[in-house]
Amino acid sequence: MEKVTGKGHRLLLMPLPFQGHITPLLHLGDILYSKGFSITIIHTSFNSPDPSTHPHFTFLPIHESLSESEASSIDSLHLVDLINVRIIQPLKECLDKLMRSKEETVSCFIADAVLHSTQSVCDGFKLRRLVLRTGGATSFVVFASIPLLRENGYFPIQESRLEEPVVELPPLKVKDLPKIETRDPEAFYEFVVQFVEECKASSGVIWNSFEELESSALAKLRQLFSIPIYPIGPFHKHFPEGSTSSSLLTPDTSCISWLDTQEHNSVVYVSFGSIASITKAEFLEIAWGLANSMQPFLWVVRPGLIRGSEWLEPLPSRFMENLGGRGYIVKWAPQEQVLAHVAVGAFWTHNGWNSTLESICEGVPMICSPCFADQKVNAKYVSDVWRVGVKLENKLDREEIEKTIRKVMVGDEGKEIKDNVLDLKEKAKISLKEGGSSYSSLDGLVTDILSLKS
Ligand code: UDX
Repeated sequence: MEKVTGKGHRLLLMPLPFQGHITPLLHLGDILYSKGFSITIIHTSFNSPDPSTHPHFTFLPIHESLSESEASSIDSLHLVDLINVRIIQPLKECLDKLMRSKEETVSCFIADAVLHSTQSVCDGFKLRRLVLRTGGATSFVVFASIPLLRENGYFPIQESRLEEPVVELPPLKVKDLPKIETRDPEAFYEFVVQFVEECKASSGVIWNSFEELESSALAKLRQLFSIPIYPIGPFHKHFPEGSTSSSLLTPDTSCISWLDTQEHNSVVYVSFGSIASITKAEFLEIAWGLANSMQPFLWVVRPGLIRGSEWLEPLPSRFMENLGGRGYIVKWAPQEQVLAHVAVGAFWTHNGWNSTLESICEGVPMICSPCFADQKVNAKYVSDVWRVGVKLENKLDREEIEKTIRKVMVGDEGKEIKDNVLDLKEKAKISLKEGGSSYSSLDGLVTDILSLKS
C-alpha cells in the first residue's frame, strides 16, 4: 500500500515555553517531519528553544514582551495566564504574514493544550487547530471532571477529607486530586476548565501516551469528546537512534562516567523536573535519607530547586566527601541517557508526565514524590494501578525515604515492581512497531491532517 506523506504541507507548532512542554512538542515536530511535513516552530522569546538543535525546522520567534524578571515575580498559574494573553497580538501578526504566503499550504496549527488562547486566534484565520497535550490521558480525565467534582463539593480540598475516595474517579482519593501552589486555588480550576473547553473546540488532541498504558482514560475521552484522539507516544522512542536534545539547561554529562563506575541496578536517580521547588528542610531530609539508605545516588539539584538558596549551601560541610564517592550531584542531567544506563536501579521522581514515561520506557521502577498539577494523579497510577513504583506517602522524612529506597531496591516488592515496569516497557515498544497502536494512530493523524480544510 502506498504510504501517505505530508510532502508539500507545512505545519505550525507552538510550545508552552517550559522544558516539560518544549521537549515533547519538538519531538512531535520530528515525528511529523519524518512523515514528510515541513515544520515551523512559532515560539515566545521567553525560554526560546535553541534552533540549532533542529536545523531542519523553521523557527519563528514572536515578541510577547515577557522578561525573565517579570516571569520570576509571579506564580506559575499567573505566568501561564499572562503568556496566554501576551501571545495573542504577536501571534496574529505572525499568522497574518504566514497565511498570505503563496509558496506553501499551511495545513494546521498544533498548539500546546495549555495555550488555550490560540484557538480563537486560529479561528480568526479559519486555520484548523490541533492540540498537543503533554500530560497523560488519565490526569486529563480528572481535569475534564473538575466541573462535576466542583458541583459535588470536593473543592476547596479540605485537609480532613484527604483519605476519602473520589467515588466519581476510582481509585483516586481526595489527596490525589490536582492542585498547585497559588494564592488563588479557585483560579487554577477555572484555568483548567478553560483549557479543557478549548481542547474540545480543536480539531483533535494528540497524546504523548500509548493505548496499552491508558486504555480506560482514552476510552473515556473518546466518549467525552466529539473530536479525534491520537495517542501516538512515547514520542522520544520513535527514533531508534535516540531523540534530539531540546534542553534549556546544559546537561552535565560527567554523571555518565560516574554511572559507568557503579554496579548494575544499584543507583537511585533523583530528579524533580524543571519547575518544582522544595524547602531547605525537605532538601536536608532528602540528603540524609539518601545517605542513610547506603545505596549510591545521582541527584539533580537544579539551581532554584531549593527555595531561598542558590544551590547546595544548605548541605552540611563535607557531606558529599564523607560519602566516599557514593553520591553524585549535578545541576542538570542528560535524563534519557541516565535512565537508560545499566547502573540505574530506581528513579525518585516528582512524576511529571515526561519523567514518568521516560522511566517506563527504560524499565526503571519509580519512587514517587508528586508536587503539583497532574503529578499526583500520575503518582497514584504509577503506584496503585500500573504498580511500577512506590509512593512516599507522608511529608519528606529521612527514615521513610531510607525505608522506601530499600523496599524498591532490595525487597520482594521491588522485584514485582521491576517485572511490571519491564512488561510496560515492552508494551511501549510494541505500540510503536508497524501494526502497533501508536503506529496506527500516527497513520490516522497524518491522514486526518491531510484532509483538514482550513
Ligand atoms: C511539567 C509538569 O511538571 C509535568 O507534570 C507536566 O506533565 C509537563 O510539564 P516538569 O515538571 O519539568 O514538567 O516535569 P517532566 O514532565 O518530567 O519534564 C521534565 C523533562 O526534563 C523531562 O523530559 C526530563 O528528561 C528532562 N530533564 C529533567 C532533563 O533532561 N534533565 C534533568 O536533569 C531533569
